[in-house]
Order: sequence, then C-alpha cells, then structure tokens
Amino acid sequence: MRIRTPKGWELRESAVTPESLYRRRDRRDFLKTLGLGAAGALFLRSAARAADGGFPAAVNGAYPGTGLKVTPYELITHYNNFYEFGLDKADPAVNANKGWQPEPWTVEIGGMVRNPGKWDVEDLIKKFGGIEQRVYRHRCVEAWSMVVPWDGFPLSKLVAFADPQPGAKYLKMTSWMDDKLVAGQQADDGLDGRYVEGLRVDEATHELAFIATGIYGKAIPNQNGAPLRLVTPWKYGFKGIKCIGRIEFTDRAPVNTWQKLARDEYGFYANVNPKVDHPRWSQASERVIGGGLFSGRQSTLMFNGYEQQVASLYQGMDLAKNF
Ligand code: MTE
Repeated sequence: MRIRTPKGWELRESAVTPESLYRRRDRRDFLKTLGLGAAGALFLRSAARAADGGFPAAVNGAYPGTGLKVTPYELITHYNNFYEFGLDKADPAVNANKGWQPEPWTVEIGGMVRNPGKWDVEDLIKKFGGIEQRVYRHRCVEAWSMVVPWDGFPLSKLVAFADPQPGAKYLKMTSWMDDKLVAGQQADDGLDGRYVEGLRVDEATHELAFIATGIYGKAIPNQNGAPLRLVTPWKYGFKGIKCIGRIEFTDRAPVNTWQKLARDEYGFYANVNPKVDHPRWSQASERVIGGGLFSGRQSTLMFNGYEQQVASLYQGMDLAKNF
C-alpha cells in the first residue's frame, strides 16, 4: 500500500466540498476543465478512481488547525473583481457572458526564453500531463476572503516548458491579446484594455503557484478568468491575473496594473500581511464571503496561512517597504 504524506498547505478533508458535488459534476464541463475533450477518458477514469475514497489525492490532505469551509460555487462565480467587465462585484458574471468566447485560446510565451511561441491552451494542458485540484484560501486586498477549489496545473510546468534564459528574473503576464474590445467589455475600464501582473521566476516556480483552468471541477467561468488565470494563494487576489494572453520573461520587474494606478497603495509583491495595513484600511482581519452574520470575520494570517511554505522566498526583505 502506498502511503502519501500530505503537504503542509493542503486543506483538510472537512474543509473541502461535499463529495456529492464532485460526483454530480457535469461530464462535459469536467472534460473541458481538463482541456482533454474526448481523449480525456483515460485520465478521467484514473481521476475517478483516485476520488473513490473521497477526493483526488491532491486535495485530500491535512491542514492543521483550520476550520475552513469551501465557499459555495454561486458566491465564487457571482462576487468578482474583473474591471474589464464592470466595477461592481455582480457585473462580471453578467457582462463577461454577453457573447464573449474565450475558446479556442492561444497564449504567447516570449521574451528571455529558449522556447518562445504561441500555444493552444488545450495542447499545453495535454503537454503538462492534465489537471490537478488545489483548494486554496483566496484573500483580496479589499479585506474579504473565500476558499476556492481550483482545477489547473502548476505554473512551474509552464516555466519549465518556456525554458527561461539564465538572465530572466521575472514573468510579465498580460490579459487579452485582441486589440478590439470583446463582447461585454467596458470601454472605460481604466486599464487600457490590458491588465498586467508579474512574479519573480522563483515565485512562479514555487509549488503553490498555479494556473487555474477550472473551479469545482467545471471549466472556469468567464468572470473568474477563463481560460487561464493565475493563482498565488499567499498573495492578495489582485496578483491573480485573469485571461492570460501573453507571458513574457524579462530581467526587469514589470509594473503591474495596480502599481501603475496607485503605487502608494499597491506594490509588486502584494504578499498577504496582517501587520502591514493598506493606507486606507487595516489588513489585520478579513470578511469571510458567505460566512454569515456571526462567523463572518476572521483574523488574517501571515502569507494567508502559507508562511511555512513561502517565507523563505522573502528572507532578509523589509516587507513593509516591499509591500
Ligand atoms: N484580472 C483581470 N484581468 N482584471 C481584473 O480586474 N482583478 C483582480 C484579479 N485578476 C482583475 C484580475 C482582483 S482585484 C482580484 S481580487 C481577483 O482577480 C478576483 O478574482 P475572483 O473574481 O475570481 O474572486
């Protein structure tokens, strides 16, 4: 019998979705999430087998000391920040579904890499060996939080595939590659039609850094960032760029969208830190979306609860200056 030691960051079983939800998932949606189409049957069968005692192994681990509950699908997909599709939390679920079709989708990988090119997303997912599931905390800089069961692949696989040149230190990621507005997009989003985010290469290759292609075993909805969306659970949600169209490797730290809009308030790192307040509000606690009236607030944890895993990335850095 193979015994699997759970990783420290894995959320424990009681924190994840009722199994029935996974079992009820629509097969077409699931295959779409996997990016495998009909050819995914084999993978599906092995995933189903892995799920037999509960959840696939990737989310079936222990996470000491938390009583977290996964946020309901309806809330994850109807309480969104996606400024290209409107400024209210309810806007993206409406406006991103007015006919915009993010499939098929090509992602361009370029800059300081040995393997540049434009790649079809489904082909990439197949190259990376399919999809895994990760249940992560999701903490917005606006001091609210959720727990999301993502499907996707580790960003490190994409970095290895791109094969960075030795001088490459950062990834610059950009949303959209169309020059024209897509259906539902707001012309006055203030972003010039482009959302930009960045990571250091060592952050991008950390085992927690993830590219989501699904939620709850279904293809990721447009409003959550279809078809490719960054998830770095130890950082504020604004790092989680949606609809990635281009990834460029560079030797200079990219200026991300929120830094460009308000550099005194939002930095490059955006690591969750209860001791470093936003200039206009405290970051010591967070409102739990769906948490109800009485259990609706909780203390914010250093690096959003992933301190043990990621603190070494920032050793010796002044986190108040590098916010
Ligand atoms: N990506 C793009 N392209 N445009 C955006 O406006 N908003 C960011 C991030 N990614 C945003 C984006 C912010 S501020 C947050 S908190 C998260 O997406 C929200 O993700 P969610 O809607 O899936 O919760």
